[in-house]
Amino acid sequence: MSGSRPPHKTAATNVVWHPTIIRRAERERLLGQHGRLIWFTGLSGSGKSTIANAVDALLNERGRHTYMLDGDNLRHGLCRDLGFAPDDRTENIRRIAEVGRLFVDAGLIALAAFISPLRTDREFVRSRVDAGDFIEVFVDTPLDVCEQRDPKGLYQRARRGEIADFTGISAPYEPPEHPEVHLRPNDMASVRDAAERVVNALLRFEEDDRRTLLGHRRPE
Ligand code: ADX
Repeated sequence: MSGSRPPHKTAATNVVWHPTIIRRAERERLLGQHGRLIWFTGLSGSGKSTIANAVDALLNERGRHTYMLDGDNLRHGLCRDLGFAPDDRTENIRRIAEVGRLFVDAGLIALAAFISPLRTDREFVRSRVDAGDFIEVFVDTPLDVCEQRDPKGLYQRARRGEIADFTGISAPYEPPEHPEVHLRPNDMASVRDAAERVVNALLRFEEDDRRTLLGHRRPE
């Protein structure tokens, strides 16, 4: 991925893609891991960030190099010029997709927690990394539970009409159709249970990679 020209057109003219000498494979060899993007999607208050943080901690215990990308945090910096109108959300997710792609190329396991309510936006993210490097985790906490939790009081304000375009109330959420990991309420009895399901999915991906590599190795 790192050495090849990205498939998208640029607004700037006269810019040339520079291949790098050190490529993803070298970085991954040094790190002893494969870069991947684990994408948590779900309503506000569904537990995305909490579970992603717990996955982060479990992976660190296993010696993995990770990085957390969190919607609320990124909106304080890289995406601070964006609101919640549909075009702004699409641009928010596009930027995170590109950041995630860079982290994957750096050989890291990036954990992204964003509502990312639209299927097309999530499919765009998937399209920006190699097949098998994107793990979509649907944090499927029903709206009534999120609304009851309301950790930031935002649902209450949205119901009073004080926040426009609020996901689940006045803006849509399109659930993933084929997420790699589907966390239903029963899977989330504890944060640790939920996090372990995600870690196990990652370990299965890593195992598949190892098998593929072994299968392709020539006889000695
Ligand atoms: S996304 O839709 O563009 O993916 P993102 O995950 O970055 O959203 O940010 C969501 C967070 O912003 C929510 O957890 C919530 O705290 C806050 N927020 C503020 N306004 C809204 C809104 N209108 N809809 C959803 N979340 C909002």
